[in-house]
Amino acid sequence: MPPADTKPGRDCPRCPRLVAFREAARVKQPDWFNAPVPSFGPAAARVLIVGLAPGLQGANRTGRPFTGDYAGVLLYDTLLRFGFAKGVFEARIDDGLTLIDCRITNAVRCVPPENKPTTAEIATCRDFLTPTIGEMPNLKAMIALGAIAHYSVVSAFGAKKSKTPFKHGGKHMLGELALFSSYHCSRYNTNTGVLTPEMFRDVFTSVRNYLDA
Ligand code: URA
Repeated sequence: MPPADTKPGRDCPRCPRLVAFREAARVKQPDWFNAPVPSFGPAAARVLIVGLAPGLQGANRTGRPFTGDYAGVLLYDTLLRFGFAKGVFEARIDDGLTLIDCRITNAVRCVPPENKPTTAEIATCRDFLTPTIGEMPNLKAMIALGAIAHYSVVSAFGAKKSKTPFKHGGKHMLGELALFSSYHCSRYNTNTGVLTPEMFRDVFTSVRNYLDA
């Protein structure tokens, strides 16, 4: 049964493992955000970027998706280049950066141990991903960062995974909405060359072309 709330509260109790991790982080780092990280950007946007989950020292520390860890450097640089953000990204929640026609959320809102949410946690947190998508009246395109985000979006639409496979640079229509997918812009993927900045930008070029068509 979906929760009565469409957004997780600071003390969301739904995933016991994540609650325990969050409680421990609150003790160790009382000045950090240490709570489900809210979506960033206007609900009126045409584009929704779906990441995996907050990084321990990134979004979990600062309270803004992709802010304060390595993955955010390439993401925000790309958003600025493509006109989806304005200002200067300084990896702080109060750096004044704003998103334009674009919003960022995560498939899982709480930081998971070792950056690895379980299948059950991903399914549980989909109860917040689905209304996040649903509250965007102008939504045209989604960008999934990594296979986990991709398949969580696919499941949110009740689409068949086998008919909607993840592929870097891939695009599927989910009803009226386009789902573009990219390898996750994690430190591991960028350091190993799995994802180059050019490959990442190519995805955003496709999204821009789609919006402009
Ligand atoms: N930070 C996020 O908010 N999400 C990710 O997927 C990675 C880092």
